[in-house]
Amino acid sequence: MLNKPYSQACENNKQPILTELARIFSVSKKVLEIGSGTGQHAVYFAPRLNHLTWHTSDLPNNHSGINSWLTELPADNLQPPINFTIGKDHWPDLAIDAVFSANATHIMQPQNAKLMMQLIAENLPADGLFCQYGPFKFEGQYTSESNQKFDQYLTEEGYGGIQDIADLEIWARPLNLLDTIAMPANNFILVWQKP
Ligand SMILES: C[S@@+](CC[C@H](N)C(=O)[O-])C[C@H]1O[C@@H](n2cnc3c(N)ncnc32)[C@H](O)[C@@H]1O
Repeated sequence: MLNKPYSQACENNKQPILTELARIFSVSKKVLEIGSGTGQHAVYFAPRLNHLTWHTSDLPNNHSGINSWLTELPADNLQPPINFTIGKDHWPDLAIDAVFSANATHIMQPQNAKLMMQLIAENLPADGLFCQYGPFKFEGQYTSESNQKFDQYLTEEGYGGIQDIADLEIWARPLNLLDTIAMPANNFILVWQKP
């Protein structure tokens, strides 16, 4: 199909992320993806995690792109995008037990990154999981020079910027940070769980 949005980064990172998600979400039933972007992750993950239902979401202007990927690569357990802009919309009316978000934390404004952590902490049920993929800082330190340059670019362009895991931990209370998994290209998966 012509005119589908395309992210080369998604194509590069989808398999390494899936390998981790297959283990982390092995008993999860219903996942909300925050900031689905193009929809490429969703169409790759959902049919390969067919024990669960995958709900896409994003700002309204990304829905047509997500829908074009879902139309071309449908899966029984893959749901169309929900309007969900952190800082604007209420938490979706869904009984989810897991949340996934890739590369959205450093794009949204810091107050929305904080709100996202708070909303996930509020709305996950006990034992619910949140997998958060992207670049992060550790106690004020970048994990690479390229991430430092990327952060400078992000803030100059008006995006929120790379967040520090120490701040995320404060914002996410009472979630526990179960694991910090190093991924290719200086990214990480943070695995959070509601007690
Ligand atoms: C860099 S893209 C990442 C997209 C996709 N998850 C990926 O990994 O390719 C960042 C995404 O965050 C979304 N986003 C930005 N601000 C947001 C907000 N306040 N609430 C929800 N999503 C937001 C954008 O619309 C965009 O889809």
